[in-house]
Amino acid sequence: MIADKDRIFLNLYGRHDWRLEGAKQRGAWNATKDMIDAGRDWIIQQVKDSGLRGRGGAGFPTGLKWSFMPKEVKDRPHYLVVNADESEPGTCKDRDMMRHDPHLLIEGCLIASFAMQAHAAYIYIRGEYVLEREHLEAAIKEAYKAKLIGKNNIHGWDFDLYVHHGAGAYICGEETALLESLEGKKGQPRLKPPFPANAGLYGCPTTVNNVESIAVVPTILRRGAQWFAGFGRPNNTGTKVFCVSGHVNKPCNVEDAMSIPLKYLLEQHCGGVRGGWSNLKAVIPGGSSVRMITQEMAEDALMDFDSLSALKSGLGTAGVIVMDKSTDLIKAIARLAYFYKHESCGQCTPCREGTGWMWRVLERMAVGQAEHREIDLLLEVAGQVEGHTICALGDAAAWPVQGLIWRFRGEIEERIDRYRLGKPHVMGAAIAAE
Ligand SMILES: Cc1cc2nc3c(=O)[nH]c(=O)nc-3n(C[C@H](O)[C@H](O)[C@H](O)COP(=O)(O)O)c2cc1C
Ligand code: SF4
Repeated sequence: MIADKDRIFLNLYGRHDWRLEGAKQRGAWNATKDMIDAGRDWIIQQVKDSGLRGRGGAGFPTGLKWSFMPKEVKDRPHYLVVNADESEPGTCKDRDMMRHDPHLLIEGCLIASFAMQAHAAYIYIRGEYVLEREHLEAAIKEAYKAKLIGKNNIHGWDFDLYVHHGAGAYICGEETALLESLEGKKGQPRLKPPFPANAGLYGCPTTVNNVESIAVVPTILRRGAQWFAGFGRPNNTGTKVFCVSGHVNKPCNVEDAMSIPLKYLLEQHCGGVRGGWSNLKAVIPGGSSVRMITQEMAEDALMDFDSLSALKSGLGTAGVIVMDKSTDLIKAIARLAYFYKHESCGQCTPCREGTGWMWRVLERMAVGQAEHREIDLLLEVAGQVEGHTICALGDAAAWPVQGLIWRFRGEIEERIDRYRLGKPHVMGAAIAAE
């Protein structure tokens, strides 16, 4: 477990003052001018050296992403956009950062914007996050008043920060759908290329980063890239806020080192699995959009990008959903399938049609009213959705289904057999083509 002094989010639980005075006492806005005086190349190099990988789900190296922005500002202004849409099931970390420590994010926005030569940044916040928006806006007002940001501020980089409230669509968390929505249009992902660094908000060079990716930057610069890189494993560095929900005794958000064992996370921070470790059935370790792992796999899994992708799952948002042996996994995945069907923007056929198709089949499978051959058919359809769509919502919908079939196929077969024992006439009745 990391020591308290090595935590970045010292007010994650809201026990202290979230306003400017409280934030300053915890270290925020300390030496910000020195960081800016050190120059944009230094900042980007530090972020690269820290090994920070994006905390929004895909894990793209943050410093590298920043370096894709044009080196000089020409006819189009540069923008930073912070993705605070946080709608991934099981994920609630950005929420606590914004309501309990908003100044870390605001300071991060100033530094990142300076590094990318942006004089304006937007924070796109999830529609349901009302209190979080209120805290953020109040903190931004404080920062303007104290001349920490705004025109002619004490840091010498003119900078305006705006909060934009979304309307509650999951797809608006996808970075290009977010940009569309911010521009006042329907939130539908754009075809890439061009990527936002070339043509983003209003067609201008833009970088989109997750709340956590930006909020950790000031502390990385204050304490040094090597300090941050000292946690975790190579390629998986830093501290990380994990969100644990489901069948643990104490669900929580907690900041610890990247690469801690999953078992340690559950036992040390969450009071263990309900009914003990042996009562664990499965874990979805990265928000709902990754494949679940079994108890045996969870035994040795490390909470980082590489360990979980080696298990054909993923760290995603680090929203860990724990399911004990009382869980009906087919029903659980059917419910997630409904979510993806509901949230699909409908632009691409495999996603628009496939998400609804997978949901309908899973609903029948959850009661056993299906054919054995439909299990492979479902797997095939999931494979046809995966990788064949404009954005990653298609993958996000396919992976939980694959996880269920790869790892718990026996449960589906048993459910079908049990249903048939009760209703033998079902053979050949409703099949997937419906
Ligand atoms: C359907 C969908 C929803 C997403 N939702 C979020 C979100 O709520 N927050 C977020 O930071 N990233 C989300 N992402 C990832 C973003 O597209 C993008 O990769 C991320 O904001 C980049 O930030 P990072 O590099 O700091 O991780 C989502 C992606 C997809 C495909
Ligand atoms: S994958 Fe789904 S959500 Fe993404 S663009 Fe295509 S239809 Fe829309």
